[in-house]
Amino acid sequence: MIIVKTIKEVREKVKEWRDAGLSVGLVPTMGYLHEGHASLIKTSSSANDRTVVSVFVNPIQFGPGEDLESYPRDIEHDSEIAQTAGADLIFNPEPEEMYLDNFSTFVDMTGLTEELCGLSRPGHFRGVCTVVTKLFNIVKPDRAYFGKKDAQQLAVIRHMVQDLNVDIEVVGCPIVREEDGLAKSSRNTYLSHEERKAAVVLSKSINAGKELVKSGEKDAGIILAKMQEIIEAEPLAKIDYIKMVDADTIKQTKTIEAPAICAMAVYIGKTRLIDNFFTEDA
Ligand code: PAF
Repeated sequence: MIIVKTIKEVREKVKEWRDAGLSVGLVPTMGYLHEGHASLIKTSSSANDRTVVSVFVNPIQFGPGEDLESYPRDIEHDSEIAQTAGADLIFNPEPEEMYLDNFSTFVDMTGLTEELCGLSRPGHFRGVCTVVTKLFNIVKPDRAYFGKKDAQQLAVIRHMVQDLNVDIEVVGCPIVREEDGLAKSSRNTYLSHEERKAAVVLSKSINAGKELVKSGEKDAGIILAKMQEIIEAEPLAKIDYIKMVDADTIKQTKTIEAPAICAMAVYIGKTRLIDNFFTEDA
């Protein structure tokens, strides 16, 4: 596995692979890789001849006062995880490589980005769509892999690919959880010992919601009320949102008739964590 820092080097390597008739998968990440990322890389390397992992903390998807500066970074640890999982190349650019001084073109989606995390984090998806488009143009993969933990991000990227006729297959991969159920996230490292214990309420609430869906409950209000009750019983938890939305449009739904996503963002202390389940997977 090699680590490169420039767009030119990625393009040269990918061209070499293409000339040899090889397929290419891309796993876009912001680094500080964990088993969730490793499972994306493994899925990519089992379906493609070569896998590129991008490690880039994208400044334009962070809002003022968010954790851009403190976002954990450790490229050595990332390269070990990526290599073990089957990556062939890590693309780890500096912000200046991705955004020239006169950078002024953005990919801005309406609709899907105006719900859930888009409401709490204005401009976030503009930053995500822009960097993902750039990564798609740099690597030109056959397939790109995203985790279902960022369910809205996955829906937004699928929609962007459709809107802009991008010839890349977007593959959504299952959430990977800690033993006690907490969804793996680079941001879990922000939690104190006490907060880490409290954070289990997210998955407890997710499991309760899933059980209701499995038992045939279709009323989103009933499901969300039960889930909310579980979170509110934890003094360190503060709900940002908890909603049932249509899986394609991300519009709120009162009754589960089509595939839906039950999504939440919850503060545990100062750390904002997200989790969800797809009703189809319940
Ligand atoms: O999910 C992430 O880690 C980021 O939003 C992504 C897709 C790598 C874009 O910066």
